Amino acid sequence: MATPSKIQLFLNLLLFLAFIPAAFSTAPTSSVSSIDQLQYWSKNVLNPMPKTIASKLSPLLKQDSNHFASLVSSKQRFPFDYANFCSKAKLFCSTTLDNIRQNLGNGYNSYNIDKHASNKGNPDPNSFFRLAILKNGNKIHLPDLNDRIPFRAFLPSQIASKISTMKSNDLENFFPQSFTSPVTKEAIETSILYCSSPRLKGEIKSCPNSVEDMINFSKKSLGENKLIALTSQSTKGSNKEVEIQNIKQFRSEKVVSCHEIFFPFATYFCHLLSSTRLYSVDVVDPATKVPVNRLLAICHMDTSGWPVEHVAFKILKFTPGRGEACHWFTQIDLVWLGNNGADQKIL
Ligand SMILES: *[C@@H]1O[C@H](CO)[C@@H](O)[C@H](O)[C@H]1NC(C)=O
Repeated sequence: MATPSKIQLFLNLLLFLAFIPAAFSTAPTSSVSSIDQLQYWSKNVLNPMPKTIASKLSPLLKQDSNHFASLVSSKQRFPFDYANFCSKAKLFCSTTLDNIRQNLGNGYNSYNIDKHASNKGNPDPNSFFRLAILKNGNKIHLPDLNDRIPFRAFLPSQIASKISTMKSNDLENFFPQSFTSPVTKEAIETSILYCSSPRLKGEIKSCPNSVEDMINFSKKSLGENKLIALTSQSTKGSNKEVEIQNIKQFRSEKVVSCHEIFFPFATYFCHLLSSTRLYSVDVVDPATKVPVNRLLAICHMDTSGWPVEHVAFKILKFTPGRGEACHWFTQIDLVWLGNNGADQKIL
């Protein structure tokens, strides 16, 4: 067995020490944009940032962020140093994309606009369920909880605030290369359709394209100053039979759900629907009772405003308004609550 040599350990230590000033210094020339994002989070959100968000903070140095922000403002086309921008900001500017799946908590598959959806035309029968399923001891089959969206970091809000998620012109101007390939072009255009599709009855929606923007949207939609952000714990139990335990319902009837969508930079589709119930559910192995996962589930109690062709109605076999539709959240989905709504009652 090879053990790391003293020299290697020493080099690692040096690397680690070299990283600290880059990450934590407040000097404008060496600080990174992720510090702003973390600070904005801790000012507005009471719980720590989930790892799915923390992993996507912008690695851009402030000086680079200022530089690119001024280029975006001047509406210059991006080829100037496009590759440089993409790699420094850790964006996804490749033109190949395998097996992408934009999940949107399945809620928007109804529109059938996601041509790459792996379940198109043949929806996973476990992706929607009725409230009666949520009973302790009940054995259920979980859907696939994995989203398939390639890694991209958030843009600093300084840059993101200048790019519209509703207009393909804007995106094509700044990310021309992504529009040269039919695959990435179509994925981006699908996201734009989600972002610009008409609201459902009672829905408030937006596609925030920075951490700050997503926090602002959630605060405004919920009418709250301090937020709680929740995710499902992991994707464990996907496509498997599990047993339900320890169901808790959150007191809040107002929740903002955010689902990741594809653009060259990290972006979420967020919405607030009326008459929802949010649950935290533990799932365990049916035979051994070993804990598998802690999942969030949402039930839309009023489906009367949903389009009749919504995939939920195909699976649950009723028509709009004739029943509630529940679904699980994946690990990269985020649920936002006001501080007071985060109390839970055990069912
Ligand atoms: C978020 O809201 C704050 C306070 O209203 C505002 O100053 C800031 O510009 C907003 N940021 C974004 C990205 O919308």
